Amino acid sequence: MNRIRLGVNIDHVATIREARKTTEPDPVTAAMLAEQGGADQITFHLREDRRHIQNRDARLMSEMVQTMVNLEMAATSEMQEIALALHPDSVTLVPERREEVTTEGGLDLLRLGDRISGVVNALKQGGVKIAAFVNPDFAQIKETARLGFDAVEIHTGAYANAKGAEKEDTLRAVRDSATAAKKYRLRVHAGHGLTYHNVQPIVLIPEIEELNIGHSIISRAVFVGIERAVREMAELIKR
Ligand code: PXP
Repeated sequence: MNRIRLGVNIDHVATIREARKTTEPDPVTAAMLAEQGGADQITFHLREDRRHIQNRDARLMSEMVQTMVNLEMAATSEMQEIALALHPDSVTLVPERREEVTTEGGLDLLRLGDRISGVVNALKQGGVKIAAFVNPDFAQIKETARLGFDAVEIHTGAYANAKGAEKEDTLRAVRDSATAAKKYRLRVHAGHGLTYHNVQPIVLIPEIEELNIGHSIISRAVFVGIERAVREMAELIKR
């Protein structure tokens, strides 16, 4: 059966650990259990302020993960160096602001333009697949293709937060962006704010081949354990 790849974002496990600056819960153990539950990929965000995932986690994850590693990072020279050393299966470039609670919007590639292309080219030359996390917006999708990214991750946060009639509009924007991205020969990923309740309409978008989901899975894991929480999501996203 054609199934979307499930990337499980395990940052939140490290967030709990960092709340006490202790050694538990360990995000690497979480990643191992997520794989047992059917994760196709482990996704984590090494933030510039290291508020959750630490360099050591990133290193261990790269050694231990059996499926695939997707490193989310800002387009900085420090992160570029780390990515080239770790050599994850993919890198997703995300915007980063220190004061935000989570990644709030997509990258504005029209504004960043060629400032980001150095990182894109360096990673591509290093053999790392590279995605841009952007809002569902045609101009951003077009720029993603122009800058030579392999993939786009469409930000589903507006869809996830929408209420009433807005829900359909925001879903249409994701759908149309996915169609446009495919025309530009980009691989299509999506993520942010997806839950057990709102993921199904996204699964029905045929161009989408990968979802990255964190908060909802880790929240459910508190009650049912991470393996089961991942297994339930993996079942839900079967086509
Ligand atoms: N994709 C990207 C690029 C993200 O930055 C995040 C949040 O870290 C996610 C997916 C996962 O979002 P959520 O935790 O809301 O599922």
